[in-house]
Amino acid sequence: MIEHQEGKANFKANLSGKDKGPGKRKGVFYNPSMKFSRDLNVEFAKKLNFNGLFLDGMAASGIRGIRLALECNYNVEFCDTSKLAVEAIKDNLKLNNLQSEVFHDDLQNLVKERQYDWIDVDPFGTPAPYLESIIENVNDGGILGIAATDTAVLCGAKPSICFKRYGAYSMKRVAAKEVGIRILLGRIQALASNYNRSIEPMLSYSEGHHLRVFVKIIDARPISLKWLNQDMQVLAEEAPESAGPIWMEKIIDSELVPENCEGQLGKFFDTLRKEAEGPPGLFDINDIARAAQIGQTPKKLKIVECLEKEGFFASVSIFSPIGIKTNAPHDIRIRAIENAQSL
Ligand SMILES: C[S@@+](CC[C@H](N)C(=O)[O-])C[C@H]1O[C@@H](n2cnc3c(N)ncnc32)[C@H](O)[C@@H]1O
Repeated sequence: MIEHQEGKANFKANLSGKDKGPGKRKGVFYNPSMKFSRDLNVEFAKKLNFNGLFLDGMAASGIRGIRLALECNYNVEFCDTSKLAVEAIKDNLKLNNLQSEVFHDDLQNLVKERQYDWIDVDPFGTPAPYLESIIENVNDGGILGIAATDTAVLCGAKPSICFKRYGAYSMKRVAAKEVGIRILLGRIQALASNYNRSIEPMLSYSEGHHLRVFVKIIDARPISLKWLNQDMQVLAEEAPESAGPIWMEKIIDSELVPENCEGQLGKFFDTLRKEAEGPPGLFDINDIARAAQIGQTPKKLKIVECLEKEGFFASVSIFSPIGIKTNAPHDIRIRAIENAQSL
């Protein structure tokens, strides 16, 4: 194992990835490309007034939980099915002068036996097999942090597997990742309703090869999952080429998006905060330009500015570099892109 440093933590793990991709599964897993996800988790955790018990449920080296303990003073416990990982977490706790419980167990067993206020699930691939047990067992008002790296399935490349795994049809192209998040949230909500519970999304995003949601588990409330067609219209019923049934309410609570962060993470949060208030779905700026018969697509920010001048909601999105979130109808989108040309 190699010694690494991330945030305020020093720790040992195998190097399981480089700068991109999901990383290899051998040894004690540590993928440096997920630092952004852990930095984001730390800032989000600081923003909340959380003083319960956090479970780093698929901890590997324990880096996520160790950072939350060191940088946010969280009370964290750890779990992993790998004996090697459990030994590494214990060593890494010592290395950082922390004391905590570490369980060599399947997360699904542990959550039945111990009470947690926040459970983090960070699997290799799909979180689908683990959803039911964490939804059922997390404390009332508790938080679930759920990562998914089965992006091909959630985001349009494998629709039949998506339907089998998540009970929903995915969408290709510009809105694929946002729809992937809505599929995951829809599945969590559907399972929660079996336990007389509902979800309240706190923060959702996609970055690199993964999607992640943070949801609060609340008492049941009536929620209907809906469909999104290719024109980004919300439908109550299934229609050809539409995605669904998916979560169609807000996926980000703008009040919970951390402020005053610097660099790439700060920009990411600024975009999330703004797009949180927009309608579901994204429009491809190149499609709008084609429809307006414009040869070269104007800059995204100029298009946003022109849509806003028309009096509509408009924002860029972390879910696609070529996507715009807006409630402006087709003719206004065309006029805005024509106006953006001359800005
Ligand atoms: C992707 S890694 C976790 C990475 C870690 N959270 C981080 O930020 O570096 C997945 C880990 O989950 C563990 N694991 C797989 N299935 C599990 C289960 N059912 N219960 C607990 N741990 C599990 C694996 O041994 C592996 O260490």
